[in-house]
Amino acid sequence: IEPNYDQLSKWAANYVASRIQKANPTAEKPFVLGLPTGSSPLGMYKNLIELNKKGVVSFKHVITFNMDEYVGLPKEHSESYHSFMWNNFFSHIDINPENTNLLNGNAADLEAECAAYEAKMKAVGGVDLFLGGIGPDGHIAFNEPGSSLSSRTRIKTLTTDTIIANSRFFDNDVNKVPKTAVTVGVGTVLDAKEVLIMVNGHNKARALAQVVEGSINQMWTITALQLHPKGIIVCDESACAEL
Ligand code: GLP
Repeated sequence: IEPNYDQLSKWAANYVASRIQKANPTAEKPFVLGLPTGSSPLGMYKNLIELNKKGVVSFKHVITFNMDEYVGLPKEHSESYHSFMWNNFFSHIDINPENTNLLNGNAADLEAECAAYEAKMKAVGGVDLFLGGIGPDGHIAFNEPGSSLSSRTRIKTLTTDTIIANSRFFDNDVNKVPKTAVTVGVGTVLDAKEVLIMVNGHNKARALAQVVEGSINQMWTITALQLHPKGIIVCDESACAEL
């Protein structure tokens, strides 16, 4: 528990940097990072960019897999997760663009796209560290309430709650928010060697209480973190209001 969002973001960035440093990745043995979008990880990305600029950590031998992407939104759209990642992180660090992986929400065959994504993750040896945020209803990636806790990468229909929550990025117009997404599954995230979840703000307090004090429940998909041997949550004080 960190006192505020700034401290949370610093802690998360330092943790990621320390894991990469410890692994000492090479071209033959890269470090594989799972990445989220959303406002929760923004501060962490800013801190990681600083650490990269200072030479504390390098992303030269880091391979990334993003959690999810909207279906049907052009890649170049300012709110696509592709744009989010390039604007907020990839463009500012020393990563090889070929090592960045994002689901293509415009693929002609979305099921094949999802299967190929899982296969690629496996082919590089699996994810070392999966980072994530959560929705106010405790969803991880786009694994909306009711998702199977052993789900794999697939197409999901967004809930009305998520569409309303995300409309803030689409001129507050729910009609502009895509209704479906492609997303890694809960099982995909749990397969990572480590999982680090960032939770900030009082609107996440109920979800955090479910993860920490509730039982494993498919209506709050992040509660599956309880099954992970190395699941870490970093949160701020306001997210702890219901603990
Ligand atoms: C979306 C994303 C999730 C993210 C959630 C919360 O639903 N698919 O990965 O955790 O939003 O976003 P925020 O961090 O902006 O609250």
